[in-house]
Amino acid sequence: MERKIPEHIGIIMDGNGRWAKQRNLPRSEGHKAGAKVFRKICEYAGEIGVKYITFYAFSTENWRRPPEEVEALMNLFRDYLDEAEERQEENKQKGMRIHFIGHREGVPMDLISRFETTERDSRDADKIDVNIAINYGGRLEIVDAVKKIAHKVKDGEINPEDITEQDISDNIYTAGQADPDLIIRPSGEYRLSNFLIWQSAYSEFWFSDILWPDFAEADLDKAIDDFNNRNRRFGGV
Ligand code: FPP
Repeated sequence: MERKIPEHIGIIMDGNGRWAKQRNLPRSEGHKAGAKVFRKICEYAGEIGVKYITFYAFSTENWRRPPEEVEALMNLFRDYLDEAEERQEENKQKGMRIHFIGHREGVPMDLISRFETTERDSRDADKIDVNIAINYGGRLEIVDAVKKIAHKVKDGEINPEDITEQDISDNIYTAGQADPDLIIRPSGEYRLSNFLIWQSAYSEFWFSDILWPDFAEADLDKAIDDFNNRNRRFGGV
């Protein structure tokens, strides 16, 4: 039987710090190696027909890390934005539509305006939607959605009794996208860490001891093969 490719995959890119420590390198080198793997997996996912992929790049809790580590991560995002601008044509050919999801407040201003440029420049691509979660927290995402809905109630557009699950789905950062079928977390941790908590209600989870900078195309294939052996019932029998 032909294997089924998950429509949406979520990935928690974990283990960069430990990867660096094993090599006596600063943690920022682990993130740098992780950013390379992010690019590689992004491309591979598009090639094999994944329609949406969401990467957890920086959580609302990650601001608690040492300032030099936070700065190193912000600089990796800046490098990626530079590259997205330089390689607009190439990205268009690969069909990557890029979205930055997360709470904008608190993110350095220069990044926010460039998020918007990159999103606009890639708007017409239609092979794969790539969500990069920065200053992202699943609970905050739900709070942000509730605020939007509360404004609609206040303006008389919605009656509180008529609010549905679909209204929440329509007001979260991934509005209009399929929910993740598969969530991958490497590095031997078995937690969701506030990632896509609304969207993952029926997701399959795949864990592995591999550290994110060592994650290869073959690991994505393995996760997809295992996903194919799961029996998804969505609450039915
Ligand atoms: C968690 O590993 C990883 C992060 C907090 C950062 C992930 C970000 C990247 C890989 C950069 C992505 C780049 C772009 C352009 C999107 P950890 O540091 O907590 O690892 P540890 O648990 O081993 O310490």
